[in-house]
Amino acid sequence: MDHFNTIHVSLDEGILMIKINRPDKMNALNQEVLAELGEGIRYAYDMEEVSAVIITGEGEKAFVAGADISELQELNEMNGRKFAENGQEIFSSIEQCPKPVIAAVNGFALGGGCELAMACHMRVSAPKARFGQPEVNLGIIPGYGGTQRLSQLVGKGKAFEIMMTGNMVNAPEAQSIGLINHVIGEEEDLIEYCRSLAKQIQKKAPLAISMIVDTVNAAFSNEENGYQTEANSFAACCKTEDFKEGVSAFLEKREARFTGK
Ligand code: COA
Repeated sequence: MDHFNTIHVSLDEGILMIKINRPDKMNALNQEVLAELGEGIRYAYDMEEVSAVIITGEGEKAFVAGADISELQELNEMNGRKFAENGQEIFSSIEQCPKPVIAAVNGFALGGGCELAMACHMRVSAPKARFGQPEVNLGIIPGYGGTQRLSQLVGKGKAFEIMMTGNMVNAPEAQSIGLINHVIGEEEDLIEYCRSLAKQIQKKAPLAISMIVDTVNAAFSNEENGYQTEANSFAACCKTEDFKEGVSAFLEKREARFTGK
């Protein structure tokens, strides 16, 4: 666990702590951080001793201030797709982790940082933390799942506003719109709060926890397109006798007699 360059990983009382460790660059996610993050989260899958995960950022200012902008310059249409898919895959492995993953948001969570927090199962934030998807300011869009997860968490309207304006959202507002679970008080310790949350969950049945992860994620799975499913079901209704009966009854101003056929 001590061979990483850009993250710090430790295990204490079954809680795997992953700390992004580039404080001089606001913990920006370069390719090395992403790869190490992917490796770090594997411990949660592979090690029986791990029963919960906390992800946080080193230093006073930032959780993660986004993808490393200096690496973005090299992106073109071809490698841009790979860039996004690679980040999506790693964040998806966080989201699908069979053990609870809590983001302890200690400061700026912007761009890929907000996306990382959203990939975790729960988000607890320090009062000074700020959230945002400022990619639009760079002429791009969130690429690590942010367009999807932000819409899921805060609804379409707020997601559009946050992504289209690039404006930051403070911690109380983030809580009020459902982006985060909880803001700790000024006097509270963020990591201690997250550890106590993890400890509550550690007392529950591990298999049930992993199934909660699977089933909640299934509700947001893109394997089936919702609009397509709706159209298919609508079409299936149109071939039933009940559909003919319902329309006829309305036109004949009588009550319908449905048979389930
Ligand atoms: N990528 C690469 N470097 C970053 C970075 C990022 N996403 N975010 C911050 N840094 C670097 C800065 O370049 C600076 O490096 P330097 O000291 O070598 O010049 C250092 O981190 C400190 O950042 P600075 O901007 O001086 O701090 P600040 O307190 O004035 O502002 C932020 C903090 C987070 C508001 C500001 O850094 C910022 O807007 N970052 C970019 C956020 C963003 O657009 N993320 C989405 C990327 S897709």
